[in-house]
Amino acid sequence: MTVHSDIDRASIDRGTPERSATQSVTLEIDGMPVTVPAGTSIMRAASLAGIQVPKLCATDSLEPFGSCRLCLVEIAGRKGTPASCTTPAENGMKVSTQNDRLAKLRRGVMELYISDHPLDCLTCAANGDCELQDMAGAVGLREVRYGYDGANHLGAVKDESNPYFTFDPSKCIVCSRCVRACEEVQGTFALTIDERGFASHVSAGMNEDFMDSECVSCGACVQACPTATLMEKTVIEHGTPERSVLTTCAYCGVGCTFEAELQGNRVVRMTPYKDGKANHGHSCVKGRFAWGYATHKERVTKPMIRKSIKDPWREVSWDEAIAYTASEFRRIQQKYGKGSIGGITSSRCTNEEVYVMQKMIRAAFGNNNVDTCARVCHSPTGYGLKTAFGTSAGTQDFDSVNEADVILVIGANPTDAHPVFASRMKRRLREGAKLIVVDPRQIDLVRMPHVEASYHLPLLPGTNVAMLNALAHVIATEGLIDEKFVAENCDAAEFKAWREFVSRPESSPEAMEKVTGVSAKDIRGAARLYATGGNGAIYYGLGVTEHSQGSTMVLGMANLAMATGNLGRNGVGVNPLRGQNNVQGSCDMGSFPHEFSGYRHVSEEGPRKAFEKDWGVALDPEPGLRIPNMFDSALDKTFMGLFCQGEDIAQSDPNTHHVTAALSAMECIVVHDLFLNETAAYAHVFLPGASFLEKDGTFTNAERRIGRVRKAIPPMAQYAEWEVTCLLSQALGYPMHYNHPSEIMDEIARLTPTFAGVSYDKIDELGSIQWPCNEKAPEGTPVMHIGAFVRGKGKFVLTEYVPTEERTGPRFPLLLTTGRILSQYNVGAQTRRTANVVWHDEDILEIHPHDAENRGIREGDRVALVSRSGDTSMHAHITERVQPGVVYTTFHHPESGANVITTEFSDWATNCPEYKVTAVEVRLTNRESRWQEDYAELQKLQRIETAAAE
Ligand code: SF4
Ligand code: SF4
Ligand code: SF4
Ligand code: FES
Repeated sequence: MTVHSDIDRASIDRGTPERSATQSVTLEIDGMPVTVPAGTSIMRAASLAGIQVPKLCATDSLEPFGSCRLCLVEIAGRKGTPASCTTPAENGMKVSTQNDRLAKLRRGVMELYISDHPLDCLTCAANGDCELQDMAGAVGLREVRYGYDGANHLGAVKDESNPYFTFDPSKCIVCSRCVRACEEVQGTFALTIDERGFASHVSAGMNEDFMDSECVSCGACVQACPTATLMEKTVIEHGTPERSVLTTCAYCGVGCTFEAELQGNRVVRMTPYKDGKANHGHSCVKGRFAWGYATHKERVTKPMIRKSIKDPWREVSWDEAIAYTASEFRRIQQKYGKGSIGGITSSRCTNEEVYVMQKMIRAAFGNNNVDTCARVCHSPTGYGLKTAFGTSAGTQDFDSVNEADVILVIGANPTDAHPVFASRMKRRLREGAKLIVVDPRQIDLVRMPHVEASYHLPLLPGTNVAMLNALAHVIATEGLIDEKFVAENCDAAEFKAWREFVSRPESSPEAMEKVTGVSAKDIRGAARLYATGGNGAIYYGLGVTEHSQGSTMVLGMANLAMATGNLGRNGVGVNPLRGQNNVQGSCDMGSFPHEFSGYRHVSEEGPRKAFEKDWGVALDPEPGLRIPNMFDSALDKTFMGLFCQGEDIAQSDPNTHHVTAALSAMECIVVHDLFLNETAAYAHVFLPGASFLEKDGTFTNAERRIGRVRKAIPPMAQYAEWEVTCLLSQALGYPMHYNHPSEIMDEIARLTPTFAGVSYDKIDELGSIQWPCNEKAPEGTPVMHIGAFVRGKGKFVLTEYVPTEERTGPRFPLLLTTGRILSQYNVGAQTRRTANVVWHDEDILEIHPHDAENRGIREGDRVALVSRSGDTSMHAHITERVQPGVVYTTFHHPESGANVITTEFSDWATNCPEYKVTAVEVRLTNRESRWQEDYAELQKLQRIETAAAE
C-alpha cells in the first residue's frame, strides 16, 4: 500500500498559479537568487526558493486577489510594502520578506482578524488543519489589543442545509477564496461577497442558503477555505484525518485523482489531488462527497447461494460458493454444450479484474462468450474511431481543451455527466472559445453564467446522421475543406467519394431541415464556425452512440474532423466522454467477444497464438456471443449460465421484459456485486464484491489515462474481484495465480502492444500514463495521430442517413430520449445509497408545455409513459428545455422502469441499444403501472429472502 503522509504529498501551496511564459526573470529574495517564468508572483518565486511568505487570501489554485495584506514585502527602491501575491517578479528585483517592520505589520493584520474570530481553536473541527491558526503562529501573534468585545460576527448563524458541508459565517475572514473558487475553478458563480467594509459577508445565491442557491456541491469552495467556515460534515463529526491514500474516483470517465483521507480504516474525507492530471485538484459532488455507499448497511459481505430464485438466499463459505458455481457451470456445459455459459465484465471494475475475467472465460469456460457493459454505451466509439483512425479511443487529453477555439458538443451533457471536465471546458469558453451544442434538449451549457452557445441545434432524436451530413455538406460545398491536411493524411479515393456524397443536394441543410427540425441557417452558421473558427474540438457522449446509427455517427464526426484538418495537435480532435470510470479500460482489456486486449480479433492467428502460448491453452478462433445474443440464446435454451460481474443488466439493459424473461430462463446466474441489485433477483449465486477503496488496480479514463486505484481499507468481504475470479478459474480446472494486481498488469503489458511500457512502477513514477505506452512512446501518448493516423491514411466512410425504424405515429406520437443528472450515477446503485438523493429521489418526465396542455397534464402530475415495449409511470415536469414532440427522463431509479419502455432496436454495427429514441405516448394516470406493481412485489420477496438468509 502506498500511504502518503501529510508531508510527502504534493501539498505545498505556492500561493499563486504557475505561469508558463517562455521568458524568465531573475531576482533576489532574502539574498537568494531565483529564476522564474515571467509573470510569476513574488510570493510564488519565494516559495520556489523555499521561503514561505505568510498569506491568507492567496492559494495556488486561484488567481491572486490581494485582499488580506498579510503577504506584504519590501522591494529595494520602491515605496511602501506591496503584496507579494499580486506583484510580479521582475529582473533585478531585491525583495525582503522578513524584517521587524514587516513582522509588525503582519501581526497588526492578524490581530484584526483574530479579534473577530471565535476563540474555540481547541474544539474547532479544523484544529491543526487551519491556515488562520497557522498564520497566527507564523507571524508570532501573542496578544490581541483590541479585545473581543466590540462589534463582531461571532453570533452569525450556521448554514447546515448542504448534506455534506457546513457554512459557519462566524469563522469567516472574508478572504473571498470560496467566491473565486466557485467562479474560476467550478464556473458556477453561486457565491458573492455582499455589502462592504465591516458588513461584508459571503452570500450564496441571492442571500439564500446553499441548498436553495445555484451551488452544485462540487466542494471547490470547501477546499479553498483557509478556515473552518466551510467544512466537511464528516470531518466535523469524526475529526481530521491521520493518513491518506492516493486513488482514482470510481464514478465517471473523467477519472479524477483523489486522496482518500482516513482515520484508521474509516474514510473521513476524499480530497481532490492537485497534481491529478485529469482533474488538477477539482472534483464534483459524486467523487468528493458521495462515497458513503462503500460502507452502506446494505453491502452484502457473505457469499450466498440458492437452488431456485424462489428460495431464500443461504449464506455460505467462499469455498462452498466457488465449488457450487464451478459445478453448476460444468453441469450446464455438459448438458447444453461448451458455448452455453458466458460472462459480462464491468466498466466499474479495474483493468486487472476485467482482464482476468475475460481470460477465465476464454481459457476456462473455453469459449469467447464475454461481453461488457460498454456494449450498451460506447461500443460504436470503438468501432467508428478504429475504422476511421486506427485506434478505438479518443484522440486528445483533457488539457487539449485549453487550446480549443470552437467546441462542438454533440449528444453529451458534460455539466451533469462529466462535471470536472465541464468546468475546464467552461473556463475555456469564458476565455472566448465558441460553443456549438447539438442536442434535442437545452442542456445547461447552452446558456449559463458567462457561457452562451453560439449555436444550439435542437435536432429531433434519431436524426444525428442527417445533421452531420448537412454540416459536412456546407463544409464541402463552401470551400471550407482543409485540402492540404486531407491530401497529406487521408485516403484520396475515399475522400473523393465522400466529398461527392455529402455535396449532393439531398444532404444540404435546406433538405435536412425537414428531417432534423433545425433551421438551415443555423446549420450553415454552425458548420462555418466549426470549419473556420480556429481549432475545432468535438466532444460527444451517449447521445451519439446509443442509436441505430451510432457507429455511422461516430464515423461522420471523424469525417468532419478530417475534412477540416482538426486532428493531430492540441485543441482539436474527436473525443468520447466516457460514462463509467473504466469504460475505456474494459474495452481495452479484451472484454468484447471478438477481441483480445488491445483490440486484436480472435480470428487473427498471430495474437491468438501469442495468448495460447502465454496462457497454455487452445483458444476458440470464433467470436462469442454479445449480450443481446446471450439473452436471445437463453430464450432458445442454448445459453443457460451467466457470470455477471459489477453490472446490473436487469436495470440497465433495454427492453426489460425481454431481459428478465431471458434471465428467468437460465439455470445458473452468478452476480458478483456490492449490493443485491436488480439482476440478483434472478440469480442463484451471489458473490460479494469490493469497492474501489478496498483493492489495488488501475482505471483508464476517457483520455486513455491509466491511473492507479490503491487499497485504502481491507476488503469487507475478504476478496477483491480479481481474487474471486482466480478462485473460480482454479475450481474450473484452469489455475490462474497472481500475488498482486501488478503481476496482472505485467501480463497485460507482455501481451498487448499498446500497453507494452506500462507497469505499476512507471505509473507511480509518472502519476498516470496515457496509452499507447511502448518503445515508441515510453511515457505515453497525450495526443494521438500526430503526423499520421495510426492506421496509415485516415479513412472517410460514406454515412448515408437511414431513419430509425422507431417511428412516431398516432399511437405513440412523442419521442422519448434519456440522460443523466449530476447527483446520480447510472443505475444509481451507489449514489442512491448516499445523501445525493436529496437532489434527485425519483426520475421525472420532462414534457413541453404544449404537449402537456394537449394532454391536460399539470406540473407534478403522475403520468403513464407507454411504448410498444411496455409501460411505466412517473411524475411530470413541464419545461421548455425539451422541444414539442420530445419527452425526456433519467434512469437512475429502478422503480421508474425507464428501460421497460426502451426497445430492442440497436446500432447496426455493434448492437449498442437505441436508448435515445423511443416512440411513446404520455397520459394522465393516478396509479403505478402493472410493471411497477410487479416490481414492488419482487422487491418485497427479495427483502424477505435476504432477511431469511440473515
Ligand atoms: S468562507 Fe472561507 S474562503 Fe470564503 S471568505 Fe470566508 S474564510 Fe474565506
Ligand atoms: S460547492 Fe462548488 S458550486 Fe457550491 S458554492 Fe462551493 S464552489 Fe460553488
Ligand atoms: S467528475 Fe467524474 S471522476 Fe471526477 S469526481 Fe466527478 S464523478 Fe468522479
Ligand atoms: S495573500 Fe497576498 S494579499 Fe492576501
